[in-house]
Amino acid sequence: MTDARPAEPMIRLDGVRKEYADGTVAVEHLDLEVREHELMVLVGPSGCGKSTTLRMVNRLVEPSGGRVVVQGEDVTTTDPVALRRRIGYVIQHVGLFPHRTVAQNVGTVPALLGWDASRTRDRTAELLDLVGLDHRTYAKRYPHQLSGGEQQRVGVARALAADPPVLLMDEPFGAVDPAGRRHLQAEFWKIQRELGTTVMLVTHDIDEAVRLGDRIAVLSRGGRLEQVADAVTLLARPATDMVRDFVGTGRAVRLLGIGELDAADLEPLGRAAGGDDVAPDLAPVDSLTLHGRLDDAFAALAASGGRPVPVLDSDGAPAGQLTTEGLLGALRRITGAAA
Ligand SMILES: Nc1ncnc2c1ncn2[C@@H]1O[C@H](COP(=O)(O)OP(=O)(O)O)[C@@H](O)[C@H]1O
Ligand SMILES: [Mg+2]
Repeated sequence: MTDARPAEPMIRLDGVRKEYADGTVAVEHLDLEVREHELMVLVGPSGCGKSTTLRMVNRLVEPSGGRVVVQGEDVTTTDPVALRRRIGYVIQHVGLFPHRTVAQNVGTVPALLGWDASRTRDRTAELLDLVGLDHRTYAKRYPHQLSGGEQQRVGVARALAADPPVLLMDEPFGAVDPAGRRHLQAEFWKIQRELGTTVMLVTHDIDEAVRLGDRIAVLSRGGRLEQVADAVTLLARPATDMVRDFVGTGRAVRLLGIGELDAADLEPLGRAAGGDDVAPDLAPVDSLTLHGRLDDAFAALAASGGRPVPVLDSDGAPAGQLTTEGLLGALRRITGAAA
């Protein structure tokens, strides 16, 4: 299908403003669009207006100005209760109902929507399995019988139960320990890809933003939009001093973690500068794959003692070899620094 017009974004914030009753201007004037199926991360320091922005999308907070449009509909003219059934919401301290079982918690919205019992039960079981909780073990438990990470999973399952087109998440993994958090992030990322849910996720953690976001919006105080870009662009080319500072010193490492090896970074096999063969006398080095991550490329070059490392294409055919110069070239390429 070809369509000349850009698709209407799933969520559109149009000059949105929030001034609280005490005169605090949490969000001054924000324009932002989230595309269908996109995982958009809002990141910024504490107090910069992230949660306020998110809550204006489902009208937990009423904007003082501007417009919020979800699926083409101005939310201020939508019944807030109906709106919240269409928009999943996950917060840091999950807010599970303590006296209801896991299954009852997950089935909350389907029940409100009038689904029959067997459809709700099936969907609940499916969702629990999807978030990594075997429904046979977990459905009948109560929230206090779960670990923090398990509660968070139930929170995600509950938010997804009625298959909402839009999911809002406010520091959703913030209460989980770092190892558990990485795991949950990776699992959630896969689930989001699978379901295609449009997600707006708030975090103060730049690493989380880089790991999860298709695009990342960096906010500073007053909900000011400093930059919105994909992770590589954001890390490689911070648009403002604030973004540069916020992204911080881990920038290069993060770049290696997400940048990809491109055909342009390779040399033809066997014709590396200096005429070295491909790592002949060292333990066989695992070959790299085109579009693999740069930190794997870095590790392979380190293991080969700097000798060129073969690179295969997605069919397993030789695509060329990577040299140290090639890796530096890749970094220059993604940082936009002229070679
Ligand atoms: N209900 C409220 N009344 C007055 N000020 C508030 C209220 N909620 C948040 N704020 C203020 O608005 C600003 C933005 O808050 P918030 O959106 O929660 O930031 P973030 O989620 O980025 O930490 C902060 O200065 C905060 O103190
Ligand atoms: Mg917040």
